[in-house]
Amino acid sequence: MGETRGSTTTTSRGADQTVVIEARGLVKRYGSLTAVDHVDLAVEPGTFFGVLGPNGAGKTTLLELIEGLRQPDAGEARILGEPTWPRDTGLLPRIGVQQQASSFFERLTAKEQLEVFADLYGVDHRRVSELLEMSGLTDKSKTKTEDLSGGQKQRLSIACALINDPEVVFLDEPTAALDPQARRNLWDVLRGINDRGATVVLTTHHMDEAEVLCDRIAIMDHGQILTVDSPAALVRDLGAATRINLRAGAIQVEEARGIRGVEGVSQEDGTLSLTTHDPTHALTELARRDALDGLQVTGANLEDVFLNLTGREYRA
Ligand SMILES: Nc1ncnc2c1ncn2[C@@H]1O[C@H](COP(=O)(O)OP(=O)(O)O)[C@@H](O)[C@H]1O
Ligand SMILES: [Mg+2]
Repeated sequence: MGETRGSTTTTSRGADQTVVIEARGLVKRYGSLTAVDHVDLAVEPGTFFGVLGPNGAGKTTLLELIEGLRQPDAGEARILGEPTWPRDTGLLPRIGVQQQASSFFERLTAKEQLEVFADLYGVDHRRVSELLEMSGLTDKSKTKTEDLSGGQKQRLSIACALINDPEVVFLDEPTAALDPQARRNLWDVLRGINDRGATVVLTTHHMDEAEVLCDRIAIMDHGQILTVDSPAALVRDLGAATRINLRAGAIQVEEARGIRGVEGVSQEDGTLSLTTHDPTHALTELARRDALDGLQVTGANLEDVFLNLTGREYRA
């Protein structure tokens, strides 16, 4: 976990063939509320793309506009170069949209669900066993969907979206309402989809999920995309200080204050805490003084990015 993900994007933006999903000036209004407010987006092939924002930010509406499930009031979305509104049935075999878990056919087993989807798409039933395996449901293949746990249902609904081996997969809050262990299991499944080459667009209100899974994150609030970048770049561009924690007494407070580049020193609850924009120098100095007892180094995170962009604390 926490490894650097691949596909750093260096391709030129102008060339349309390098873009799998494109949105220009998308707007959706519900009465006086603008749920999606002039959104532009470009997603390159193979990207694991996250739309991150608090509840009500407009993530689901944006996804539905891009998928062609809702008509925009203005603007246009394209997937694989094709406009998604008016709805283009030719596009459907090439994309996967995660169904809500409640939309399973009643009384069917997990395997039968997938077989029905396979038949709808004219896909060989061998794909069903592959997907059961991939989503960790092989031993649940004979279980009726209503008897699956929340996490198993989520994984089955994702497997259904993958039946046609889509080039582009849309997942709307796929880990909502799961316990931490089930979320982590699902993260592995989602990584697997992307590793096999599909472009994945995922919405989430979990910062940690976006940070762990996504190559690029669009931060959304009040219908607008505030910024798009890799998680590392979003945090780096904040230019926030690094915090170095040591066991209290590892170094005298006054001595710590004297290290060049150290901006703040505080000591409480047995921890001495230094902040600096030059952690390399501070750590080198601390090491030279053999003062690294209890060392912990923490930087800014996406919560700081959100605070910086909106002026308020992130509350999902
Ligand atoms: N069908 C609808 N009719 C009226 N308002 C809606 C409808 N769908 C969503 N909204 C409103 O639009 C805003 C964005 O909703 P949504 O796209 O569901 O956000 P998110 O998925 O980020 O939680 C919210 O304020 C929501 O209440
Ligand atoms: Mg939503």
